[in-house]
Amino acid sequence: MIGRALTLLLSVGFLASLGAWLPQAVAVRLPGQHTGYEPVQPIAFSHRLHAGELSIRCTYCHWAAERSRHAGIPAASICMNCHRTVQVTMAGLRAEVEAAEREGRDTQPVSSPELQKLYASLGLGEGLEPDPALTPAPVPWIQVHALGDYVYFDHRAHVGVGVRCQTCHGPVETMERVRQVGTLSMGWCVNCHRDATEQGIDGRQVHASLDCSTCHR
Ligand code: HEC
Ligand code: HEC
Ligand code: HEC
Ligand code: HEC
Ligand code: HEC
Repeated sequence: MIGRALTLLLSVGFLASLGAWLPQAVAVRLPGQHTGYEPVQPIAFSHRLHAGELSIRCTYCHWAAERSRHAGIPAASICMNCHRTVQVTMAGLRAEVEAAEREGRDTQPVSSPELQKLYASLGLGEGLEPDPALTPAPVPWIQVHALGDYVYFDHRAHVGVGVRCQTCHGPVETMERVRQVGTLSMGWCVNCHRDATEQGIDGRQVHASLDCSTCHR
């Protein structure tokens, strides 16, 4: 594959800076290496719950996918649209009510330990009051997908012509934890570009280019 691409590169005279570029490109990542990558995240955020059971649209949180190259990870403020009110799951609430009944006491306000991590990232402690002991810092989400710097990808170009998130990312709404489904290899991109140009997307004609400079600029 690399040999073939290299011959082609030289024959089309693609990229004058090839010498500096190629070794680095190859060192970054081999094709398919990260398929199935499913890192444990700092907060147990579930797509199955939010995008599946609660049916929150993907672009409610990843709104940038329709407007820019990057889909983006939502800021905690988007979570707080709901979690200012929802501080515990229904199951957690029910458990507290039952415990209070059993112990013959009033129910106490409860909040989920996973959500407390979200609040802490905003510097909020008990009762969602600012806690001087907490320094606000973004949640350190671990990146799942990563193309090399030498590849140009653009969400808007795909989402705009009707390629569904799931076509590339798989059934995220069933995933407790996000994992990489596509190989993100060059063949993965190019095969779809060829098929989409031949078959269209939802009956609409598209021209997904196979030019090297579409993805390597
Ligand atoms: C539709 C997008 C797309 C097009 C068109 C494309 N590439 Fe790529 N290319 C990629 C991606 C994505 C990778 C990264 C593969 C990886 O990281 O596993 C890549 C990697 C490469 C590499 C690094 C070695 C390798 O095989 O992984 C070379 C060399 C390369 N491309 C050359 C070319 C040439 C020459 C053309 C034109 C004939 C071309 N590419 C067209 C997406 C594309
Ligand atoms: C309530 C907000 C929310 C909704 C709705 C949501 N996501 Fe996410 N998404 C996140 C957060 C937070 C992360 C980072 C943590 C993680 O990976 O789980 C993330 C991560 C991802 C990632 C991995 C990003 C990376 O690092 O590579 C993908 C892919 C993704 N979401 C796709 C989707 C798709 C597809 C949908 C709809 C089916 C969706 N998301 C719905 C909040 C959301
Ligand atoms: C044509 C395939 C494709 C489609 C369609 C697609 N993605 Fe992606 N997505 C990717 C690739 C490739 C990456 C890795 C990009 C990179 O590393 O620069 C990615 C990365 C992401 C990330 C990580 C953060 C970022 O901005 O790179 C999130 C979140 C994400 N996608 C969500 C979505 C959502 C939500 C949709 C639908 C609205 C969607 N994607 C549609 C291929 C796709
Ligand atoms: C549109 C409303 C909404 C948004 C936006 C939302 N959530 Fe939720 N989330 C809920 C609801 C409702 C529940 C509780 C479901 C239940 O009762 O089981 C929940 C549950 C959770 C839980 C499970 C808590 C536990 O103890 O198991 C976590 C963690 C969580 N959300 C994190 C987040 C994060 C992080 C974001 C932002 C990226 C977010 N949520 C955005 C509505 C939302
Ligand atoms: C599921 C099919 C599919 C996959 C997978 C896919 N693409 Fe595309 N791509 C398309 C379609 C369809 C278009 C839009 C063509 C149009 O606008 O007519 C497109 C357009 C693009 C464009 C915009 C070209 C322009 O006109 O600016 C870029 C850049 C691109 N793709 C890069 C990539 C890269 C890089 C990958 C792999 C990491 C990839 N694509 C994977 C289907 C796909």
